[in-house]
Amino acid sequence: MKEQMRLQKLMAMCGVASRRASEKLILEGRVTVNGKIVRELGTKASLDDEITVDGNALVKEEKVYFVLYKPTGYLTTVKDDLGRRTVMDLMGSEATKNRIFPIGRLDYDTSGALLMTNDGELMSRLINSANNIEKEYLARINGHLTLEEVAKLKKGIELDGVKTKPAQVFIDSYDKRYNTTLVRLIITEGKNRQVRRMFEAIGYEVKKLRRVRFACVSTEGLQKGEFRPLKPHEVKKLYSL
Ligand code: URA
Repeated sequence: MKEQMRLQKLMAMCGVASRRASEKLILEGRVTVNGKIVRELGTKASLDDEITVDGNALVKEEKVYFVLYKPTGYLTTVKDDLGRRTVMDLMGSEATKNRIFPIGRLDYDTSGALLMTNDGELMSRLINSANNIEKEYLARINGHLTLEEVAKLKKGIELDGVKTKPAQVFIDSYDKRYNTTLVRLIITEGKNRQVRRMFEAIGYEVKKLRRVRFACVSTEGLQKGEFRPLKPHEVKKLYSL
């Protein structure tokens, strides 16, 4: 027997709508369980039940979760109208078997950890900046970053009139020969090109950028372009953040 859970949670898991919007559908009497209209929000159901929304049967899709080590040179999108390479091209049969999509975004010229799933509920949780999900980056920048500048990055940098949230910033190493610094940053939001723009704002150019970790998931053990399924405990952890 499949796990019993609140109807709105089950609906959200199956990609009908968010939990809140599913609650509204229930209250409006648009949802049936085993042939009966259900209007109570406390109702429990499982994937074994026959559930319909506006007369359409719920598509019971198994949830899948992967971490992809995105190489540079790929767009983080499901489809590109100009026919450019996207991260979906790296997912092999998983991309056709399941309607997966990326959680958040990495720039075309950024590599690193990218979560891929068909779980819309988990995606909304993880991209909601109020949840302070940690993203760890390694940035190779031109020049020699000073400790004062590290302090500035940590406190927050104004981008488009809004200060970035406090970040953890560490100088990993300085390369004297090429005059570049390797900087490790842990940020908890995901503004467009945030890391690059934070450095630009203090006069540095990011030469190379890699996301080494998204929340509790890293690219460890993967080569660029490879992916692996997440372990059940990793999915559980992501849901608990
Ligand atoms: N910050 C950036 O500038 N680019 C990314 O891809 C991710 C974070």
